[in-house]
Amino acid sequence: METDFDESIGLVDMIPQDMGRVVLNLIANAFYAVDEKKKSGLEHYEPTVSVSTTKKKNAITLKVGDNGMGIPEEVKEKVFQPFFTTKPTGQGTGLGLSLSYDIVKAHGGTLTVKTISGENTEFSIIFPPTK
Ligand SMILES: Nc1ncnc2c1ncn2[C@@H]1O[C@H](COP(=O)(O)OP(=O)(O)O)[C@@H](O)[C@H]1O
Ligand SMILES: [Mg+2]
Repeated sequence: METDFDESIGLVDMIPQDMGRVVLNLIANAFYAVDEKKKSGLEHYEPTVSVSTTKKKNAITLKVGDNGMGIPEEVKEKVFQPFFTTKPTGQGTGLGLSLSYDIVKAHGGTLTVKTISGENTEFSIIFPPTK
């Protein structure tokens, strides 16, 4: 796991238990995705999960990226739906991302995903500048 935190951000007003759960959800999904890809037996594959924060023009961005399985286009539009999961029974509830979406929204932010199927996935949380 690689981390890169923007120290200039300082303290941000949020409910830490809730945002902590969001970040944990995203990281757990990322580790699952790289683990699945690793198990597929690719040679020279280095599973990598990265977490970063940046501050630009007073907007704060938190990104969780991975070089795992990626998300196929037809699945991508469903990942934020409650109970949507592609994981085997017992391994996924399909609630992580829908809950995370709601928590981020309640904090005034947005949660979006960029992915290349088979290659990588990146979830971004953006908090706009507060007035
Ligand atoms: N980092 C990721 N890489 C690939 N697919 C992902 C990733 N994160 C989420 N997904 C997809 O989104 C689905 C929903 O995720 P989530 O709401 O956390 O539920 P769960 O993890 O219980 O399946 C996953 O089952 C998976 O198909
Ligand atoms: Mg999950």
